[in-house]
Amino acid sequence: MKTARLIPLVLVLLLATKCSMYATGPFNSLYLSNSLGQGDMPIGVYYYPEHWSPDQWERDLKHIADLGFAFTHFAEFAWASLEPEEGVFTFDWLDEVVEIAHNNGLKIIMCTPTPTPPAWLTRKHPEILSVNSDFIRQEHGSRLHTIYDHPVYLHHTRIIVEKMAQRYGDHPAVAGWQIDNEPHFGPIVDYSEFAEKQFPVWLRHKYKTIDSLNFAWGTAFWSQIYNHFDQIPLPNANRAAQGVNPHHLLDYQRFMMDRLAAAIRFQAGILRENISSGQWVTTNYAYFKFLPLSDPFRNRNDLDFVSHTMYLTSGYLNDEGGPLAFRLGSGKELAFSADLAASVNGYTGIMEIQPGQINWGAINPQPLPGAVRMWVWHTYALGDAFVCAYRFRQPLFGSEQTHKGIVDTDGVSLARGGKEYVQAIGEIAQLGTAGKHEFLSGDDKRRRTAFLFSFDNMNDIENHRHHQDFESWQHVYDYYAALKSMGAPVTIVQPGDRVDPSEHPFWVVPAYQQVNPYMVDQWKEYVRRGGNLIISLRTAKKDTNGHLWEAPNQQPIYDLIGARIPEFDHLPLQYPGTVVYNGNEYPFYRWGDWLDPQPGTEVLAHYGDQFYEGTATATYRKLDRGSVSYIGVWSNDGKLEKDILNDLYTKAGASVYKLPAYVFTGWRNGHRVFVNYSSLDYELPLESGQQIVLGEPTLKPGQVTVVKSEK
Ligand code: GAL
Repeated sequence: MKTARLIPLVLVLLLATKCSMYATGPFNSLYLSNSLGQGDMPIGVYYYPEHWSPDQWERDLKHIADLGFAFTHFAEFAWASLEPEEGVFTFDWLDEVVEIAHNNGLKIIMCTPTPTPPAWLTRKHPEILSVNSDFIRQEHGSRLHTIYDHPVYLHHTRIIVEKMAQRYGDHPAVAGWQIDNEPHFGPIVDYSEFAEKQFPVWLRHKYKTIDSLNFAWGTAFWSQIYNHFDQIPLPNANRAAQGVNPHHLLDYQRFMMDRLAAAIRFQAGILRENISSGQWVTTNYAYFKFLPLSDPFRNRNDLDFVSHTMYLTSGYLNDEGGPLAFRLGSGKELAFSADLAASVNGYTGIMEIQPGQINWGAINPQPLPGAVRMWVWHTYALGDAFVCAYRFRQPLFGSEQTHKGIVDTDGVSLARGGKEYVQAIGEIAQLGTAGKHEFLSGDDKRRRTAFLFSFDNMNDIENHRHHQDFESWQHVYDYYAALKSMGAPVTIVQPGDRVDPSEHPFWVVPAYQQVNPYMVDQWKEYVRRGGNLIISLRTAKKDTNGHLWEAPNQQPIYDLIGARIPEFDHLPLQYPGTVVYNGNEYPFYRWGDWLDPQPGTEVLAHYGDQFYEGTATATYRKLDRGSVSYIGVWSNDGKLEKDILNDLYTKAGASVYKLPAYVFTGWRNGHRVFVNYSSLDYELPLESGQQIVLGEPTLKPGQVTVVKSEK
């Protein structure tokens, strides 16, 4: 390999922090749906031709089409079958299945095969394999084990992606492209020599001088002062018994997220140079909570949209929704995943949902009868432009041997979940709403909520929880779940995003620690223009270097919330404190701010015990044309937050649902959909004369009810 062909990493990293030079295409949700099929929400399924005898391809793809699937999905792990030896390309088999799919009326999502480099590549260049925090290099024989942005890897990535893009870039059946698969660095992270060399480069780019870095990281503390960038190691908790410098760690996490984003940008650029303008480019992010160090917002300008994946019965995602939760999964996780993905570029589609039992989870239960169909309907209600089932045939070999497909191991008989997919396809087609793509009812518009969330903030909290049980996702989810129980559509916004109160009358800011004056001004401006801002504890504790203010605690928001926050407290779980709101008592232990409200600020809740009994902990004030509420305590089960949000929304004139936990609703094209992930029946709050088009007024666990409704 000629070094001249290597892509200088610094250049890639520079691109990571700037807007992409590749403008996104002229796409939207409706375009995306139409590119994949006829219906309102086309449903497709993964197919791996390389796993099956070529004489079965015609049978299988025809079967997929006959069942009502609109598209299929090829090639994301097929590198070794496409380039079996360096520089030797064998595309004939893929050409053939592309034609078979096309002739059967199926559209195709084509994928770049980079999660699984061939053995000739990993053997020749073991330096592309990532190294974990115990300094163990990964080995061939798995997947997602490479260093995404290693120049040697990028060199070979360019060759295979370019070849594929040139070959299928204007094929009429290929609707668009998925880059790689579920890109993320964790849990392997990357402690390779390559990362060690690149980190100082990234730091120099960010800080320019070593003095600025020393200031930002507070290296005077514990004598950590660096004389030059090349002295800086990768922070590794396994080699720092007393913990690593939190500023150092947070920058390392940013460095990792930038590297991943740059590698995705790199592939997006190659695709765009070679595909037609009608084909879109995406990647599929997984479980935002569980695969950290990937941040889709960093690729906002590179991808046309971001897709997402979700496996509901893995056993890792279950809420405590009663005895059936392990068979139904977490509707909250699915909803958050869809909302986050859609918030990046305004729309999304789900790239993978299981059609039945999986193989890699903690437990791998059978889904409850009806659950697979309910997940498809829930996704419909969440506004996804398409659904893709993972996968058509159950594999007979390999690491996912017992993972269910749409069809059973014989390759032809519909599996239980396959039947539910087919049922959902038929039911959605019957609604007759193709071509509409309206996702907000009149009531939805009045309760639509912007939600400030960033991976940077989650890392910042996790790096120093301050109370061992301050689980950052749980805090965010308590607010999110409250909003979902009210039926509020949620848009995830990033720091710096402008929020218009006429589009989002409410803006929730849960525990957002690092702020700059611009963000606080933006909040004030939002309220001035009539928005209702709701902020929770920890917000504005630090500047964007992660330093506390040389001023009173959280001082930058005092004149916004109309209160001072002189102190905060943490309690052990076995000795919780009490908060009083509207005469009701709520236990808390993880966090409690003491508020000192100024005249004109109303006290919503106060402490009912401890030595600071009677002290305010939640406040509300009208300000300009809007309102500001501050909730300084985290109740044990999120009930206080839910009750306060319900009252604030109602007071501001929005009508809200009071759905029980694990029941969800969403509106699309004149229909309101209800789904039940709880273990109890639920009597729907229907108005007299309201027409049910699917399901029953008593919503059973794992079931769906759809009503005609403009509300
Ligand atoms: C996903 C992954 C797929 C497949 C699937 C099995 O997370 O993207 O490639 O492994 O899990 O459930």
